Amino acid sequence: MNSNEMVTIDRDHNLHPYTSPTTPPACVPIVGAEGVRLTMADGRELIDGMASWWSAIHGYNHPALNHALLQQVSKVSHVMFGGITHPQAVTLSQKLVDITPHKLTKVFFSDSGSVAVEVALKMAIQYWSALGQGSKNRLLTIKNGYHGDTFGAMSVCDPKTGMHHLFSDMVVQQYFAEAPQCRNDAEWDSSDISSLEGLLSKNKEKIAAVILEPIVQGAGGMRFYAPEYLRQVRQLCDAFDVLLILDEIATGFGRTGKLFACEHADVVPDIMCLGKAITGGYLSFAATMTSQKICDGIGKDGGVFMHGPTFMGNPLACSVANASIDLLLGYELERMIADIESGLCEGLAPCKYLDTVKDVRVFGAIGVVEMKNQVDLAAVQPEFVKRGVWVRPFGRLVYVMPPFIISRCDLDFLTKQIVEVVSSL
Ligand SMILES: Cc1ncc(COP(=O)(O)O)c(C=O)c1O
Repeated sequence: MNSNEMVTIDRDHNLHPYTSPTTPPACVPIVGAEGVRLTMADGRELIDGMASWWSAIHGYNHPALNHALLQQVSKVSHVMFGGITHPQAVTLSQKLVDITPHKLTKVFFSDSGSVAVEVALKMAIQYWSALGQGSKNRLLTIKNGYHGDTFGAMSVCDPKTGMHHLFSDMVVQQYFAEAPQCRNDAEWDSSDISSLEGLLSKNKEKIAAVILEPIVQGAGGMRFYAPEYLRQVRQLCDAFDVLLILDEIATGFGRTGKLFACEHADVVPDIMCLGKAITGGYLSFAATMTSQKICDGIGKDGGVFMHGPTFMGNPLACSVANASIDLLLGYELERMIADIESGLCEGLAPCKYLDTVKDVRVFGAIGVVEMKNQVDLAAVQPEFVKRGVWVRPFGRLVYVMPPFIISRCDLDFLTKQIVEVVSSL
């Protein structure tokens, strides 16, 4: 099949994410990937600025990840997790328990980030129900959040700026505090917490948990907020007897320079969601972690946790996740991410002086250029491809989170293309 045929059949039959089902723009045909480069069907290469939406942290076609997958295929590719376990799941849960904050000793595997969030919400609601407090069945979150596309996850995404406003009448109505305004690098302003504090104190009898993305609000605006905010949220949750769920699906596994973003605030959640980079971007897989206390609550009087995906604990995914975590633990992570951070800061700095740009911000291996106006994706995407980079703007945001293994030379090339394209808008 040649490149044109592929694009035509794709356009005729495949529906793509957040894209018109009737007049979709042509997709870029990718036939290979190696390191930080994607290979197009016509042989051109693109330096990947997106790491396949935060996931491909080690780059593509990594020998250690390939090996993990191949050696597992001939043992057992999949087996149900109900009543059965296997070495890769056991090894992975032990690793996750070892590298996440100390209280999190229980792991529930699932198949995607959104499902990991659904599982977290159910854990929190089931916990309170088992303790005889069934009225604690709502969630409190902050505006500008994003937690996935399934109905429970949608209910805690930003109701206005989120991608799901079409469904707002169908999702459970949750509590939304104002998003924190204090940036991660700015001085803490104690008034920032008052909106969340007010909602929590007024509605604590109805709230099962607060759910947040720690420090980095991703798809809901690519905003970075003060670690002190997260510390205060933890204290308030304790004071008002409400659980804290941290969604580390985008930030987990090193993206911000720590293994998990909650480490910037030294905060331990009651429930933590992991996904995306858990398999180094190889397979769809996720985990929801929690503590003995939450499990004791749910298990009270013989209670069972009410969730069980068919592909739970998939051995291929567990195997590649084990190899990915081993690679990650072998990196000098803080230095590696600090190098990317300084490359992004220097490379994107010229954007700050453009009239069309509202803000330029960098945190860890995440670089964001926020424009004053909506970016015309249909015009800008082909321009990036023509220049040999894969950058996919969203709304007013042109942003990158490249694989951790990107060289300084490739990073400079990537940021130079962003500066030039943004300058032309
Ligand atoms: C913070 C956060 N939570 C949840 C999700 C949903 O994950 P998935 O797309 O794997 O369902 C995402 C995806 O972008 C995310 O960034």
